Amino acid sequence: MESRVVRPFPAPQSSETVSTPSLGLTHRMRRNRKAEWSRRMVRESVLTTDDLIWPIFLMDSQQARSPVEWMPGVDRLNIDEAVRQAAEAAALGIPAIAPFPFVDKALRDPTGSEALNANNLMCRAVRAIKAEVPQIGIICDAALDPYTSHGHDGVMEGERILNDASVAILVQQALALADAGADVIAPSDMMDGRIGAIRGALDEARHEDVQIMSYAAKYASAFYGPFRDAIGTNATLIGDKRTYQMDPANSDEAIAEVALDLEEGADMVMIKPGLPYLDVVARVKDHFRVPTFAYQVSGEYAMIMAAAGNGWLDGDKAMVESLMAFKRAGADGVLTYFAPRVAKKLKATG
Ligand code: PBG
Repeated sequence: MESRVVRPFPAPQSSETVSTPSLGLTHRMRRNRKAEWSRRMVRESVLTTDDLIWPIFLMDSQQARSPVEWMPGVDRLNIDEAVRQAAEAAALGIPAIAPFPFVDKALRDPTGSEALNANNLMCRAVRAIKAEVPQIGIICDAALDPYTSHGHDGVMEGERILNDASVAILVQQALALADAGADVIAPSDMMDGRIGAIRGALDEARHEDVQIMSYAAKYASAFYGPFRDAIGTNATLIGDKRTYQMDPANSDEAIAEVALDLEEGADMVMIKPGLPYLDVVARVKDHFRVPTFAYQVSGEYAMIMAAAGNGWLDGDKAMVESLMAFKRAGADGVLTYFAPRVAKKLKATG
């Protein structure tokens, strides 16, 4: 059979002279990409400083900073330094910070009782930041893992993580944080019913204006490793969190989790981790049309920093591209350890 190869134009004679007749295409997607002004003009998503929430690590120490080994460029901060950093973040236009405590090992116990201490590290830091930098939002995690000797987000009976007993303690923790001045409570524990319980207790305590950002779809992920180094729970964690955090295989279940948290009174929802779960971010935003956040977690940060540190990719470009991906997927904002770095970059480039 005769072969019929369609040749719309002859192959170039040499590599120097590429002169060919036009293909006569109607559509040339490249036209809009031909110059920076045009690319800017047709750009669909924008990343701004308003999209950034900065997670920081706190420690009780005379020392201002101590590096987190597994997160290059991230330090634990003492309260004075945290106040200074909050001021810098506010000056950069970052709307909110999300502090996490490294709790002294001696203060950890099976029920996480230090979480309820009105003078614990978190509460002192929140009061100090509120006093000095009132214009920045403070989003406080509700979960027991920094405070428990076993590293779980709730309390245990044998091998089981108890749901309702944990919720009762989380409610008290949320109240302590709200009393200290937290603007937003962000329950990251994944116990059932905690959003409703916390909402009810906040309202009863006349904290009706305290918002709730629920970690609604939080997966049992390997990407939290460096965070557990930062708050010192890696060595202590017994087992894993798969009986309360979600199975990475599930997406319909994320819709059910978000629906429940919204019904229970969540003002905003979060998906976590971020990039590996962008499909979930997009689905949740499409489905519910509510303020939807994503957490670019410690492992995602560490991957970019490690590759950049080895010269294997351009760290700044990877940072901006990864954050733009969240915007494209529909996220209203991103919790990211890159927040101050990207805010500075956005300021410099206008
Ligand atoms: C704890 C909590 C975790 C993170 C935020 N809150 C870790 C975990 O669930 O084990 C992870 C954040 C990160 O990895 O950056 N409830």
